[in-house]
Amino acid sequence: MAVIAWKAIYETSIVTLDNEHRELIVEINRLYEAIRDKREAEVLEGILTMLEKYTVDHFEHEEQLMSQYGYPDLEEHKKVHRDLIQTVEELKEKASSGTEDLAQQLLKFLRYWLLEHIVEVDKKYGEHLVARGGRFIE
Ligand SMILES: [Fe+2]
Repeated sequence: MAVIAWKAIYETSIVTLDNEHRELIVEINRLYEAIRDKREAEVLEGILTMLEKYTVDHFEHEEQLMSQYGYPDLEEHKKVHRDLIQTVEELKEKASSGTEDLAQQLLKFLRYWLLEHIVEVDKKYGEHLVARGGRFIE
C-alpha cells in the first residue's frame, strides 16, 4: 500500500462526517509512514489513544444524526459500531501486553474500516440523510 489520499468514493456526502473520516485517514497515513520508517513504537500508543476517543465521539455523532433523521438501519449500524469499538479495545489491550506485529494489525484494521465500513456501510446513510436534512446537517 501507499499513503492514502482522500477519494470521492469515501464521501458520504454529509460534510461534517466526511471531515471526521478525513481525520481517520490522517491517522492511517501516520501509522503507515511510521511502519515504513521503522519507528512505529513511537506512534502506536498515541494513535490507539486517539482512536479510543475518536470511535466513541464519531460513532455517537453518526448515530445521533441517523436517529434524528429516522434512518431505518440504525440498529444494524450501531451493532457494527460496537464491534469496531471492541476491536479498538482489544488492540489497546494487546498494546499493553506488548504484542509483536501490533502496528501491522492496527494498520490492517484501519484500512478495513476505511474500505469496508465507510464505503459499504456509512455510504448507505449518506443518501438518506442528504434527502432528509441536506449535506450540511451537524
Ligand atoms: Fe459508521
